[in-house]
Amino acid sequence: MRGKKVTIIGAGNVGSTVAYILAMNGAAHEVVLRDNKTDRAKGMALDMSQAANAARTHTIVTAATEASDIAGSDVVVITAGSPRLPGMSRDDLLLVNAQVMKEVVADIVKYAPEAIIVPVTNPLDAMVYVALRESGWSRNRVVGMAGILDSARMSHFIYEKLGYGAGQIRASVMGGHGDDMVPLPRFSTVAGVPLTDLLTWDEIDEIVAKTKNGGAEIVKYLQTGSAYYAPAKATSIMVEAILKDTKQIHPCAVMLEGEYGYTGIVSGVPVMLGASGAEKVIEANLNEEQAGRFAKSVASVQELFDALHKHKFFGKK
Ligand code: NAI
Ligand code: 2OP
Repeated sequence: MRGKKVTIIGAGNVGSTVAYILAMNGAAHEVVLRDNKTDRAKGMALDMSQAANAARTHTIVTAATEASDIAGSDVVVITAGSPRLPGMSRDDLLLVNAQVMKEVVADIVKYAPEAIIVPVTNPLDAMVYVALRESGWSRNRVVGMAGILDSARMSHFIYEKLGYGAGQIRASVMGGHGDDMVPLPRFSTVAGVPLTDLLTWDEIDEIVAKTKNGGAEIVKYLQTGSAYYAPAKATSIMVEAILKDTKQIHPCAVMLEGEYGYTGIVSGVPVMLGASGAEKVIEANLNEEQAGRFAKSVASVQELFDALHKHKFFGKK
């Protein structure tokens, strides 16, 4: 059997940490790091290959010097992008990263036409949309990372509030990866016990607010960048589920085709991951209050799509 190959485009904080996790757990036989700072990718690849030898795993990490080095990838993770710079509006960042996505996806279509694409770059839901439009691939093959991260953040804040249960908390977050994400306390449990049996609604509301602010809180501390350990771990979970064809359910960003009452919008929903990517969207029954928050999140993502169209992004070279 051919060994599994994963390419990571964007060897920054998140991308390099994903590569390191995959090299340490041996989930892939080959990990390729591609960055427009080629020497950074080369240095990291050498360092990680040496770490893999220390760990006695079989994973080889290399740096791509040509776009064609991504050929044969089973999964391509996209963590390439620009951070928001001073003076840049949200729309500016959207268009800059959409352009990065467009270029990267063109290479993937050309050189790794069998791959599953896992976008991570922000604004995530819009980047999944760009990758879908630019590749023309079916929705199962473009599946974005955010829900596992946001759910893990919620689990952490539940632990902080309870003071027990670490590692036994299953939190659920749906919707877009933005201020209007949809933490779902009624779908969250601690060792199988409903969260709503353990905390008051005031305490739960505090957890929901902290979850939504989870990324911003870390940026405030780090000052020069955003979170990467939890984002990278969350991404590696998706990559492993695809490589190992686990058919496990994870919250991921996919194009909705009628599920939850929406079509043509990308949002975070429970998805069965396997060798073909997002093999099935799982529909949970949302109550009126949950459905209302999901609708608000969908509307925020739609605004990003509308901005891309307003700027006539698609069709431009
Ligand atoms: P970073 O700035 O450390 O890394 C970005 C890398 O992309 C840099 O090394 C840069 O040289 C590279 N790059 C830029 N344009 C490129 C191109 N055209 N081709 C190849 N490489 C290119 O940023 P970090 O912290 O690694 O974050 C990466 C992205 O992931 C950001 O957009 C960030 O907002 C997003 N993110 C998304 C999360 C999610 O939940 N979806 C969570 C965390 C980060
Ligand atoms: C985060 O949530 C910046 O999306 C990134 O940490």
